[in-house]
Amino acid sequence: MLKKTLIAASAISMTVMTLSACGSDDSGGSDDGKITMGFAQVGAESGWRTANTKSIQETAEAEGVELKFTDAQGKQENQIQAIRSYIQQKVDVIAFSPVVETGFESVLQEAKAAGIPVILTDRAVDVEDTSLYETFLGSDFVLEGEKAGEWLVENADDSDVDGDGKINVVQLEGTTGAAPAIDRAEGFASAIGADPSMSVIASQTGDFTREGGKQVMESFLQSEEGIDVVFAHNDDMGLGAIEAIEAAGLEPGKDIKIITIDAVKDGMAALAEGKINYIVECNPLLGPQLMELAKKVLDGEEVPERVVTEETTFTQEQAADVLADRQY
Ligand code: AHR
Repeated sequence: MLKKTLIAASAISMTVMTLSACGSDDSGGSDDGKITMGFAQVGAESGWRTANTKSIQETAEAEGVELKFTDAQGKQENQIQAIRSYIQQKVDVIAFSPVVETGFESVLQEAKAAGIPVILTDRAVDVEDTSLYETFLGSDFVLEGEKAGEWLVENADDSDVDGDGKINVVQLEGTTGAAPAIDRAEGFASAIGADPSMSVIASQTGDFTREGGKQVMESFLQSEEGIDVVFAHNDDMGLGAIEAIEAAGLEPGKDIKIITIDAVKDGMAALAEGKINYIVECNPLLGPQLMELAKKVLDGEEVPERVVTEETTFTQEQAADVLADRQY
């Protein structure tokens, strides 16, 4: 199953880093029984992503998997270029977290034609032929959005901050076209749909970054009247929104309620401090399950089509209890 590389890596402009338990080089699949994995990461847009990258790199090293790692800097074209480079290098297995859902069909067909199995981690792709990948490991993003919306419905009385009988929500969306942005918006909308007093009055992408969340919130504060709640598709954008709300002389968590997704340490600290009201967890520590799935696939074992990550939710009190032990 393991293959020996004949072709050197093509020059690519983005950051490419090779990690190996026994040294780094530019050669591809090894002939010493070791697995070589090419991993095309989205970028470094959030605290979640940093924790996810660390988990994958550390587990690869611990498991003796030679990891060829690419940071696509949030660009789909970089990710496709990286995957093509891994195909040329004849790695044993390719894994990636797709920047957006669509547009990966051709490169996945190229990997299949080359006999290289692909594992999706964290985010899904929208392709008709699901045999183009072996398995998809990651969260149920629709469920995450639903949990955020359900909390709001349960806490409707407290969330009508201006007491006008309407709960006006502004939404900070993740990267346009990315699975977590599409699915979290869908799950949230279906949950708050149960309460006619609630509506999303404005929704815009902050690209999953702190700066993006801050800028979009600044413009919402100028353009929208009577904002009661911010629903941010990740902690980083929620933390950016906090900066904008404070700069406008308002108190985050009180004058405007904030719900986010991820539960990274900075988000949990803001939750424990009362600046965020509720966080739905999205677990970034996918390294161990990814390496296990890769080994099974390469050993010819059956793997499930979908492996869903287990996750929880946090109130302010729960965040205060677990903050000190939070790993990421
Ligand atoms: O795909 C997972 C999402 O991507 C995380 O919620 C977000 O923080 C990240 O950038």
